[in-house]
Amino acid sequence: TERYDFVVVSNRLPVDRVVRRDGTPDWQPSPGGLVTALEPVMRANDGGWVGWTGTADDDQGPFEADGLHLHPVPLSAGEVERYYEGFSNDTIWPLYHDVIAQPTYNRETWETYVEVNRRFAEASADVAAEGAMVWVQDYQLQLVPRMLRERRPDLVIGFFNHIPFPAYGLFSQLPWRRQIVEGLLGADLIGFQRRADAGNFLRAVRRLFHVPTPHGRVELPAAGEGKWPNSMSDEPRTVVAKHFPISIDAAAYVQLVETESVRARAAEIRRDLGDPTTIMLGVDRLDYTKGIRHRFAAYAELLDEGKLDVDDTVLVQIASPSRERVETYKALRDEIELTVGRVNGEFGTIKHSAISYLHHGYPREEMVALMLAADIMLVTALRDGMNLVAKEYVATRADDDGVLVLSEFAGAADELKQALLVNPHDIEGLKRAILAAVHMPRQERRTRMHALRRRVLTHDVEHWSRDFLSALAEVRPTASAQA
Ligand code: G6P
Repeated sequence: TERYDFVVVSNRLPVDRVVRRDGTPDWQPSPGGLVTALEPVMRANDGGWVGWTGTADDDQGPFEADGLHLHPVPLSAGEVERYYEGFSNDTIWPLYHDVIAQPTYNRETWETYVEVNRRFAEASADVAAEGAMVWVQDYQLQLVPRMLRERRPDLVIGFFNHIPFPAYGLFSQLPWRRQIVEGLLGADLIGFQRRADAGNFLRAVRRLFHVPTPHGRVELPAAGEGKWPNSMSDEPRTVVAKHFPISIDAAAYVQLVETESVRARAAEIRRDLGDPTTIMLGVDRLDYTKGIRHRFAAYAELLDEGKLDVDDTVLVQIASPSRERVETYKALRDEIELTVGRVNGEFGTIKHSAISYLHHGYPREEMVALMLAADIMLVTALRDGMNLVAKEYVATRADDDGVLVLSEFAGAADELKQALLVNPHDIEGLKRAILAAVHMPRQERRTRMHALRRRVLTHDVEHWSRDFLSALAEVRPTASAQA
């Protein structure tokens, strides 16, 4: 097999295997922010990408897609159920998102998580050249850094956590908290979205292992020495934990907005919606962390109080299907769809519905057209690692118009300070922010959006990966790998 100096490892590959209605197999872009962010990085680095095709029992061998070198890791149906739906998305995901939903703690799913992480580590070791840089991604693969180091001490290993890392009071619920932290400490550099996430991780290290962490550096003694129970090398090692806020390929969005067909589509969307005065937009995976219910509650109350009118306002909610076999997600979908029905039944007219709800994923061109058509973007996450949708909206608004309403619980709030920042739990506050957005004068919209755009266009995903990879090379300067 081919070997690379740069390897990315993530649960999902950038493309997902799908079966069309007529039974023919096909590939489509994978959902979520991780893949969106990493694709341009991979293109720039020409390395290998190790991950899952999104289908159980897939025997697809290594392949090329769009110039990317993809190396599938097969998962059986039982592994998908226990490792992906179970431990990753029914334990770690809710625990790391502040227990918005109750995590389940189950030994069988944990054991499969360990086995599957081992398989990812082996697959990565197989494609990594001597001294290569291997960049492991996200909460599904937290044990991979250590497993990889045990096999291949020559590698430079980075890890990036795309979702929040919880406060120790919550993290300590996890029966396997020590193993998870030890798994992560196999990396040379551990990246987080927010400063607070890195702080939470370092606190967990101190609480669990009683090692000091000055300036975000974890100093590990050599194997067999000191109180550190699980050192992974004969020499003392330093692991650095730090925040690197992820971003988007901003230039690609700017370019799309300039496309005639996208602009025409934006105008068409406005017309199709009946040319309302105000189009509000929500774009989320259908996930309980996104605060979709809170958004709907605030909007419905504003309609009820007569502060908004369906004749001139519409809320478009794109909810892309996600993790549909996990119970919590099924229950959420039922609840959201019941609410849409109620709000439309109560406040809609024959001419206009209050919420235009779409349970689909869309190609990027359509998303950009929607964002260009939307006067207000609502990002009301209860907890979110970053939320790239907020940054996409900003990148799209080359006209310096549009208002971003942004939850302070999304990582993006650390950078996007000129948005209208909200606490989505405070429905009255959310209503005030929505009304402020509806009535904001053009000059203020321009000033705010201009500042937001400066931030997003200068801190794009290329900036993120360069920052991370050069910090990684600094932690392990002896390595031959290039960033
Ligand atoms: C978030 C996670 C990613 C994940 C994506 C889509 O962005 O951080 O790791 O890939 O959601 O979720 P899915 O379960 O469909 O991969």
